[in-house]
Amino acid sequence: MTKKRLLTGLKPTGTLHIGNYFGALKPFIDTYEEYESFLMVADLHALTSVRNAGEMHRQILDMAKDYVACGFDPEKGVIFKQSEVPEHTELAWIFECLVTVPFLMQAHAYKDKAAKGLEANAGLFNYPMLMAADILLYDTEFVPVGDDQRQHIEYAREAATKFNNAFGEVFKEPKEVILEGVGIVPGIDGQKMSKSYGNIIPLFDSKEEITKAVMGIVTDSEGDVPKNVYAIHQLFREETSLTALYEEHKGKYKNLKEALAADIESVVAPMREKRESISDADITTILKEGSEHARSVASQKMAEVRKAVGIAL
Ligand code: TRP
Repeated sequence: MTKKRLLTGLKPTGTLHIGNYFGALKPFIDTYEEYESFLMVADLHALTSVRNAGEMHRQILDMAKDYVACGFDPEKGVIFKQSEVPEHTELAWIFECLVTVPFLMQAHAYKDKAAKGLEANAGLFNYPMLMAADILLYDTEFVPVGDDQRQHIEYAREAATKFNNAFGEVFKEPKEVILEGVGIVPGIDGQKMSKSYGNIIPLFDSKEEITKAVMGIVTDSEGDVPKNVYAIHQLFREETSLTALYEEHKGKYKNLKEALAADIESVVAPMREKRESISDADITTILKEGSEHARSVASQKMAEVRKAVGIAL
């Protein structure tokens, strides 16, 4: 039986933290082999905000390494770089010619910018159509994403419909699969873990850095169980063994934090080791090979599109 096709994209910006890991990365890694999976590094989307070539290059390689280290096997799925497949921008242009300005003005990312009184660049404004192209070029059935990306998948479906109505049935409507990790992963202050709140526990930093973040978890002085420590600890240990541990070290916050740091370390250490074994040259080769594979699929679809719109000779 042929597998259904799945595609997702990752913007190469920022360091991964354990909230990203349990919220999106792990649930993706746990299921990608059931599909014909494409994992795309969305470097062109990152260009809507990154203004530093060295940083861009570093982030592309790092993001790809992170995923491979966390269990994405390039033999079992395709990992590729968006800008290596020029069909994405070509198809985005065609979609942009089909949708209206007021329609794109409804996009959350654009609206948020505007609400802050900032001027969005035209790339950010067109972002949903490039994303629609990413998805539709591969006849993607499922798109695993976080909840914040729901609207973008709706835009992709709209782009497919508008194209099909204008030029005939070429695109399939994709469905989002909302990655249900463990719900909201709390940060060291108890709020949702997020880089913008400065409350993260990094995934791939050294043992010392991770321990430092854990020791900084905010604890209130009431009660025997430090709530924020426990909430994070639940991700790393079964409930029964966790209850026993917290019973044994009742009220001893420092011991409990040390136990959490050790539990995090035992999950992270093998991934960190794997990550360190992947050189820049290795990951560059993996991305190049994956991109060739992706391009062979995308260029066939694009030939169909060119014919449908009448620009093919
Ligand atoms: N917009 C997505 C994000 O910020 C990244 C992305 C780009 C994507 N292209 C995609 C996700 C295609 C899924 C499918 O997370």
